[in-house]
Amino acid sequence: MNPTASTGLILRSAAPADAAAIVRLIEMLGYASSPAEIASRLASLVGSSAAAFVLAVARDEVLGLVMLSFRPQLRFARPIATLDELVVKDSARGMGIGRALCTEAIRVSRARGACRLSLLTDRKRESYVRGFYGKCGFLEDGAAHFVLPLE
Ligand SMILES: CC(C)(COP(=O)(O)OP(=O)(O)OC[C@H]1O[C@@H](n2cnc3c(N)ncnc32)[C@H](O)[C@@H]1OP(=O)(O)O)[C@@H](O)C(=O)NCCC(=O)NCCS
Repeated sequence: MNPTASTGLILRSAAPADAAAIVRLIEMLGYASSPAEIASRLASLVGSSAAAFVLAVARDEVLGLVMLSFRPQLRFARPIATLDELVVKDSARGMGIGRALCTEAIRVSRARGACRLSLLTDRKRESYVRGFYGKCGFLEDGAAHFVLPLE
């Protein structure tokens, strides 16, 4: 299904005025934040070459979000893109919105000249169990993920 054609879904860049809707989506991923924090970070990052935030919107309702970041690497001529978060409102899942956002993330990454798009996800998430990213074309590698909290 192509939700953009059949349901009037619009994919557009996020703006600070979307902060409250973004907070609700981020909560669905299990992370807490405040609209003021999100609005202020968006205000400083919108238009930056380091990040991109795309919303899926239907009838003025924000239904999904994908966040990307871009970082240069000495060993590559082009930046690496990372898909940092992807979430669709729980009542709107299974309708093709997640796939549309993923396709847009790939398009934006290419358009910004990235040489690859990577992501980390928890193997316990339903999306992992259901093979979501594989269906979007991603290949799983065997890399270990290490984290050192700094605060
Ligand atoms: C993963 C997620 C973004 C997919 O968005 P979606 O709009 O539900 O997905 P689509 O309708 O485009 O479906 C594409 C695939 O996603 C998977 N999927 C569908 N509904 C799903 C659901 N409710 N939960 C998890 N995965 C689902 C299926 O593998 C589906 O492929 P299929 O139709 O061939 O079975 C969305 O379910 C979600 O936000 N889940 C919670 C947050 C999350 O896990 N994010 C990703 C890790 S950071």
